[in-house]
Amino acid sequence: MKIAVIQGPNLNMLGIRDQNIYGPMTLDQIHEQMKGSAEQNGVELEFFQSNLEGEIIDKLQECLGTVDGVIINPAAYSHTSIAIADAIASISLPVVEVHISNIYKREEFRQKSVTATASLGVITGFGPFGYHMGLIALMQILNELKASQQAQATEE
Ligand code: DQA
Repeated sequence: MKIAVIQGPNLNMLGIRDQNIYGPMTLDQIHEQMKGSAEQNGVELEFFQSNLEGEIIDKLQECLGTVDGVIINPAAYSHTSIAIADAIASISLPVVEVHISNIYKREEFRQKSVTATASLGVITGFGPFGYHMGLIALMQILNELKASQQAQATEE
């Protein structure tokens, strides 16, 4: 099983930017932690970060046929990007959206996520632990999907 982890703009600045909101962990540290639990479950992770909307869309399109699911934090693009929402919808893969901060507790412009309308579910406000929660949720969903596909195949 392979899962892509896609990180949007300014998330490469974690550990430096707004530590009171996002905490002290760097993106690399978050990814190292995710790798630990993925390896224990026999899951391969692929990490990607970009500050550019088009690159995130290209990456999402590349996911089709190459990975089983996606964890994405579209960061500020969550609140604006219909193009990323369309890309999520068009790949028809399970996509879990993660936000480190609780977007519903912040400025009004952050309280709406357009990309979430295309995602399977959203985890918001649990700090970097949200990525771990997203990974657990996605592994569970993918295992259920696999089991139902296998059951269908034996019926046929
Ligand atoms: C964020 C929330 C966004 O509003 C913000 O622009 C980010 C990070 C989060 O993870 O809490 O860059 O997606």
